[in-house]
Amino acid sequence: MNKLVQIVAACMLLFNISCSTKAKKSDNEETKAVVKLSDDERMEWWREARFGMFIHWGAYSMLGGEYNDSICWGGAEWVMDKLDMTIEEYEKFPQTFNPVKFDAKAWVSLAKNAGMNYIVLTSKHHDGFCLWDSKVTTYDIMDTSPFKRDIVKELAEECKKEGIKFCLYHSITDWHHPQAQSIFYPHYNVGQKDQTKSNPEFPEYFKNYLKPQVEELLTNYGDIGVVWFDGEWISDYTTEMGKEMYDFIRSIQPNTIVNNRVDKGRNGMAGMNKEGNFAGDFGTPEKEVPATGIAEDWEACFTMNGSWGYKPSDTNWKSTEYLIHSLVDIVSKGGNFLLNVGPDGLGVIPEESVVRLNEIGDWIGQNAESIYGAKASPFERPEWGRYTSKAGVVYAHVFDWPKDGNLVLDANVKVKSATLLAGASQELVVNSDANGVTVQIPGEAPNKFASVIKLVVE
Ligand code: GLC
Repeated sequence: MNKLVQIVAACMLLFNISCSTKAKKSDNEETKAVVKLSDDERMEWWREARFGMFIHWGAYSMLGGEYNDSICWGGAEWVMDKLDMTIEEYEKFPQTFNPVKFDAKAWVSLAKNAGMNYIVLTSKHHDGFCLWDSKVTTYDIMDTSPFKRDIVKELAEECKKEGIKFCLYHSITDWHHPQAQSIFYPHYNVGQKDQTKSNPEFPEYFKNYLKPQVEELLTNYGDIGVVWFDGEWISDYTTEMGKEMYDFIRSIQPNTIVNNRVDKGRNGMAGMNKEGNFAGDFGTPEKEVPATGIAEDWEACFTMNGSWGYKPSDTNWKSTEYLIHSLVDIVSKGGNFLLNVGPDGLGVIPEESVVRLNEIGDWIGQNAESIYGAKASPFERPEWGRYTSKAGVVYAHVFDWPKDGNLVLDANVKVKSATLLAGASQELVVNSDANGVTVQIPGEAPNKFASVIKLVVE
């Protein structure tokens, strides 16, 4: 094992140990007795984790956003709606969905090597096709597609083996279920949508389909770390349903965490709740990072190109540097970073994503301490980068390495010692005088993405 791998392994082990004490207590399969944790205890692993993998995968991944010589705009997981396919046209894809290259081991190990501590898989996206063996529909991977392998099960088991928290995204909107189709389907984009139209049978869908499906997912696949809802914006879904769903989940798995899209409080893409009484444990900014730190729990989700679902025509990949800076920026404001991959129709994660994830993993391998369990910075954001903090320690993440060898710190930092986090832990000289606090740093940035200086503070 080289040094880097050893450090990553040690960090993951530490993380797992801190999680496994909790996991043991709440593992209903092993002990049958579920200890109901306090809210802070329940959120503990998630606040420690800071970095997770979002996986958008389903029958839409076969199309890559393309149909009949057209390419849809934006997210390719919306292809059915955006390219105005009828249900019959779209159903051909689930019927032939045969992702023979799907390998749960490979996906989980990619996430783990990237330094991610949890995985959120789309059990069902808006298209309605289910990636597990559901008893309330045949529109699933076991009955409709030739693949006949329970994807949720394979990933849940692999995550458990590897000490990664397994979580599920689940769409409330369902374009396939007759009792759920309303505003957003059919023809969302061609102006035929009737904004006022609702489906009077939606409560039936909620009671006899959505809830039983969620129950299956929470009963048959071990501990689910997070239930990550989406598609709550349809007018037929109500805040009463949201609260009922939240309580329902916690009655099955009391320690599961649920995002705020379970209810109707989300304030658009900014993702935090509006004023009012809404269910949900954390806010969900989408493709956005709040301008400043937020005291409540939140998680920003991002794509690596512009699409959640696999979309080969979108080659506008974010750089590794941008992604590492995003991770640091998010942690410096007290949030989690949920970074998406969109595997293709055969189950292969695009090489562009793999390369970036491996580079992020190398960086985290050297700087894990400044990310996992780190909290929002108590100081103003500096021009050269970001601060994260822990009790008695502040981590200065330097994106723009000063050329003059002096890093100017916030005037309020009372530094006891300063060291470079990665590599040689040689002490750096700190000067505090009337002009402020500066650290003498080497001429060259030790890390091309972001170099971290550990400041032990008073
Ligand atoms: C949006 C999109 C969806 C995607 C999700 C991720 O709400 O509808 O396709 O899954 O955001 O946050």
